[in-house]
Amino acid sequence: MRSVTKDNITDVFTSYFGDDTDPRVKEVLSALARHIHDFAREVNLTHDEWRVGIDFLTRAGEITTAERQEFVLLSDVMGLSSLVDMLHSTPEATSSSVLGPFHVSNPPPLAVGGDMKRDYEGETVLVEGTVRDTEGNAIPGAQIDIWQTAPNGMYSSQDPEQDTHSFHGLMTADENGRYAFTTVRPVEYTVPSDGPVGDILNAAGRHPWRPSHLHYIVTADGFRSLVTEVFPDDDPYLDQDTVFGVREDLVMTYVPQPAGSFPDGFELSGKVNGPYARVDFDLVLAKA
Ligand code: BEZ
Ligand code: FE
Repeated sequence: MRSVTKDNITDVFTSYFGDDTDPRVKEVLSALARHIHDFAREVNLTHDEWRVGIDFLTRAGEITTAERQEFVLLSDVMGLSSLVDMLHSTPEATSSSVLGPFHVSNPPPLAVGGDMKRDYEGETVLVEGTVRDTEGNAIPGAQIDIWQTAPNGMYSSQDPEQDTHSFHGLMTADENGRYAFTTVRPVEYTVPSDGPVGDILNAAGRHPWRPSHLHYIVTADGFRSLVTEVFPDDDPYLDQDTVFGVREDLVMTYVPQPAGSFPDGFELSGKVNGPYARVDFDLVLAKA
């Protein structure tokens, strides 16, 4: 096509597909071109603005390493990661939420009732619940990969003071689908904001904070894997998570418990004499 215009360029783009192009590739690329073209027309994109965008992508590429994925972070702060999650969630199951970059492979085993708090300062939290299906049946033997920040707001991979696996654990739910552990209350923290994505947040007048949360990946044979997070209802950033990860059903409550009431059956039983907080949170998996 030699008579390309600003109005027909999207149609020209789709006319260039090869005859045996995969139909899904065709569908996705056509829609992408349509939206990019509409976007440029809508904002009347200037050359200077186009160059800023290209420079942004170049810097995102340059800063990306095995440990730091600036493009995923871009997707997170633009709400794309969360939107993709929501497009594929099962309404009756626990909502999924962003994975984030701080999961570690090969987490250490954590027994039901085990402890992740160790000697860290901070409020002891007892978390427990049942892994079940959408009909309410327990899922014995479900695997729950758990991770969170230390009280200083850092994940082990960001903090030379922590060992690789601190605040990480892999639990196998018991014969009743029950999981339970103790930990320290996680704190709110900022996503990495010293790179190009931070520049976008600044330009948009946005902060880089996430509400505090516990991360879970829950897997069981015959069920869809669930990547999710749970957030306390009293967190100051609950309604302004910079990566849009909060869902109504992922909000939990730290219920204060009086001194002397810590239950039996935990690694810390007999060692927690003061007050502590308790969270009950069931994890619901959809059938595969
Ligand atoms: C996290 O929750 O660990 C996280 C999620 C998205 C971006 C950065 C961190
Ligand atoms: Fe996190």
